[in-house]
Amino acid sequence: MPLPKAYVTRRVQDAGLGLLPGRVEFEVWEKTVPVDREVLLEKASQVQGLLCTLSDRIDEELLARCPGLKVVSNYAVGYDNIDVEAATRRGVLVTNTPDVLTNATADIAFTLILASARRVVEANEFLRSGDWVTWHPDLLLGQDVSEAVLGIVGMGKIGRAVAKRAAGFSMKILFFNRSPRPDMEKELGARQVPLDELLRESDFVSLHCPLSAETKGLIGERELRMMKKSAILINTSRGPVVDQKALYRACSEQWIWGAGLDVFEKEPVPLDEPLLSLKNVTTIPHLGSATIRAREGMARKAAENLLAALEGRKPADLVNP
Ligand code: DGY
Repeated sequence: MPLPKAYVTRRVQDAGLGLLPGRVEFEVWEKTVPVDREVLLEKASQVQGLLCTLSDRIDEELLARCPGLKVVSNYAVGYDNIDVEAATRRGVLVTNTPDVLTNATADIAFTLILASARRVVEANEFLRSGDWVTWHPDLLLGQDVSEAVLGIVGMGKIGRAVAKRAAGFSMKILFFNRSPRPDMEKELGARQVPLDELLRESDFVSLHCPLSAETKGLIGERELRMMKKSAILINTSRGPVVDQKALYRACSEQWIWGAGLDVFEKEPVPLDEPLLSLKNVTTIPHLGSATIRAREGMARKAAENLLAALEGRKPADLVNP
């Protein structure tokens, strides 16, 4: 029996790639930049399995050109880069990598909460540029994290993990979620509230919802204007959940105190993006799951899901409805 064929769009960790030899004939895109669209279209049309990342757009055009494709295994928990509806219609399985990155992503959200509140990046630049001439009672004052109100938008696994960290800081937790989660209210001592109420009452608003038609632009001018002047917005979900132009106005005109961002409307974020000129905006380059353990877990899951589908078993992390 010939082995099934797969195309892997990035050299992911050996914890995953090491599972493939002998079970699938595969090729890896070896460059550090995303695979060219034309190459992806051509390679995908020759295989039964794709192991891809969030940089690859798996849309109707690609799926139409790949009649032999059986599975798209995404090396990410988010799968807004894949047209799941079109894949499902064509009988293509779609999988993701939940759980293994929950803690790493919650940690980065909390890192941004602390770094933004205590102005860590700004302070680092201040010191290194020689501006530190004396200790001063008013030097680089920040916001308190302890006992503040944290508003979590999207109470999934990552939202829950952020709430657990917040408990250690005696924060009061509000959350907004599409479906009622009385279990989370009980477990976390948190209160589920409408989005507007969360925005009005929170000192920190942290976004943990997936990107979908429903959440695109969820936080725009109206929402930002509802937030406290002292509040900080944290986004570790997907850039398009926030209207970036409105966020720039909110941070530069002090409607809110600042923002901590791991994700952007366009990635890599162009260096002329106005938000990058603001001291009250802390930015990092989509590092939510960027720990060795999380990435090894993602690689392993992505490979296992790919193999399961190609070997006729049900993948553990199927996202098709
Ligand atoms: C995900 O898994 O969706 C992350 O954004 C990638 O690290």
